[in-house]
Parts: sequence; C-alpha cells; structure tokens
Amino acid sequence: MRVVATAEEMRALGAELAALLGPGDLAVLSGPLGAGKTTLVQGIAEGLKVRGPITSPTFVIARVHPSLAGGPPLVHVDAYRLGGNLEVDDLDLDASLEESVTLVEWGEGLVEGLAEDRLEISIDRGENDERTVRLRGVGPRWRGVV
Ligand SMILES: Nc1ncnc2c1ncn2[C@@H]1O[C@H](COP(=O)(O)OP(=O)(O)OP(=O)(O)O)[C@@H](O)[C@H]1O
Ligand SMILES: [Mg+2]
Repeated sequence: MRVVATAEEMRALGAELAALLGPGDLAVLSGPLGAGKTTLVQGIAEGLKVRGPITSPTFVIARVHPSLAGGPPLVHVDAYRLGGNLEVDDLDLDASLEESVTLVEWGEGLVEGLAEDRLEISIDRGENDERTVRLRGVGPRWRGVV
C-alpha cells in the first residue's frame, strides 16, 4: 500500500512500477472516475520509455505506445465504454499480450480471461486529494513480487 499526495508522485510511483513490468504482463487498474489511473499509466510509460502521450481518449479504446528504447510496447486500454466480454474480444488484446505490457483501466470483470496472471492496481481517493494505491498480484508470475 502506498499513499500518494500529488499527481507528480503518482507518476513517480508509475515509473517505479515500470521496473517490475515486462512483456506478457497484464495490469488491471481500478478506482473511481478521476482516481488517477491514467496518471499512473503516464508514469509507467515514462519508466518504460515508450512514445507518448498517454491520454484519456474519448473514442479510442486501446492504443499501442511503441518503445523508444528497444523494450516492450505499452498497450493502454480504457474499457470504460465497453459493454462486456464480446467487445473486449473485439480488441484482440491477446494478439499483442505476449510481447507487450498491457494496462487496462476499468478492466475488472472484463479482461481476467486474457491471462492467468495479472497485477491488480486499485486506487482510492481520500479527503485531501491524496490517493491510496494498492497492488495485488494474481497467479504464479506475481508470487513474491508484490
Ligand atoms: N494524489 C494524486 N494522484 C493522482 N492524481 C491526482 C492526485 N491529486 C490530484 N490529482 C489529479 O486527479 C486527476 C486524475 O485524473 P486521471 O485521468 O489520472 O484519473 P482516472 O482514474 O484515469 O480517471 P478516469 O476514470 O476518468 O479514466 C488528474 O487531474 C490529477 O492531476
Ligand atoms: Mg483514465
């Protein structure tokens, strides 16, 4: 668990988390509107040295950010507007999963079937704009890592 006071700190935490992430990893980000999910993804993108910018797209649901440093691409998905498993299937995330770091906002209940391992990142918002970030690893990949 980590308490994060500012958006800057959230990005710094993301950069730290990037060191744990590699090709084939799937992380599911949860938390209410404005929790800081995209802000954390921005930090992870900085840490992974992928091409930006990381935005909250209105119409684009999944975006591929290629590495600028010979590393894995980042696939950033915002599933907020997706209705269910059928539409998630349409994104063909499993086609890119193995070689990419895949981060999914609003993916709870939708993307668990993509991989047997996943990192669950939940963000809660406190009274003073501080955020509490919790990590939970599911599956053998994350045993002993978080
Ligand atoms: N401690 C903090 N950590 C992260 N963001 C913060 C913090 N304090 C304030 N903010 C602000 O809160 C907003 C978080 O927005 P962000 O788009 O990252 O949230 P989100 O969880 O992705 O929202 P959505 O559900 O709409 O996708 C930003 O404007 C950011 O600057
Ligand atoms: Mg967002």
